[in-house]
Amino acid sequence: MANTKPPLILAVTGASGAPYARHFLAHLVRLRIPVELVITEAGARLIRDELDAPATPEGLCGRKAPGVSLRSVKDIGASIAWGGMETRGMVLLPCSMGRVGSLAAGLSQDLVDRAAAVTMKEGRRLVLVPREAPVGSIHLEAMAKLARCGVTILPASPGFYTRPKTIEDLLAFLTVRICKSLGIPPPDAPGYRPGR
Ligand SMILES: Cc1cc2nc3c(=O)[nH]c(=O)nc-3n(C[C@H](O)[C@H](O)[C@H](O)COP(=O)(O)O)c2cc1C
Repeated sequence: MANTKPPLILAVTGASGAPYARHFLAHLVRLRIPVELVITEAGARLIRDELDAPATPEGLCGRKAPGVSLRSVKDIGASIAWGGMETRGMVLLPCSMGRVGSLAAGLSQDLVDRAAAVTMKEGRRLVLVPREAPVGSIHLEAMAKLARCGVTILPASPGFYTRPKTIEDLLAFLTVRICKSLGIPPPDAPGYRPGR
C-alpha cells in the first residue's frame, strides 16, 4: 500500500559530514518516513569523497531506500517548492555556510533554497546542521538572523557526555538531536538517557 504520510525534506549540501546524512536517512527509511531528497552539486561531491558512494538515495543510504524520492536541485517547480504541499519540515544536513548565507538573504535560487524558504513561510520546522570551523561573523550573523525567524541551528558537534566509543556513536548522537527537533522518534543511542 502507498505510504500517505507527509514526507520530510532532506537537503544534503556541500559541507563536510555526509556520514551524518547517511545515518539520519537510514533511520528515516527504517521508520518508513517518506523522504524528498535534494542533493546539491557540492553535496554530491562530498558524498562521493566521504562515503565512496554515488549521490543517489541508495548510495547515500548505503542500502535500499524505499520511500526516498530524489529531486533535482535545479527543478524549481518540484512539489516541495510549493507551500500547498504538506511536509513534516526540512533539514539541511550537512548545511554549508554558503547555504546559510543564501537562506538568510532569502535568495531562493534553487530547489534547496526555495523549499527552505517555503518551509519557513509556512511555519514548518526547519533545521540547519552547519559544519564550519572557525565560524566567521558573517556566518554567525546569518545564523542569528535565521534563529530569530524560528529556524533551528543544530551544529554538527556531537557531545561526549554520552561516552561515545565509535564513529557510529557520534553519528547516532546527531541523529537523535535532529529527530527530537523535528518530532520524529529517535533511534536508541548509546549513553543517551531519556530527557536529555
Ligand atoms: C572537500 C570540500 C569540503 C568542504 N567543506 C565545507 C564545510 O565543512 N563547510 C562549509 O560551509 N563549506 C564547505 N565546503 C564549501 C562548499 O562546498 C561550497 O561553499 C559550496 O558552494 C556549497 O554549495 P551548496 O550549498 O550548494 O552545497 C567544502 C567544499 C569542498 C570541496
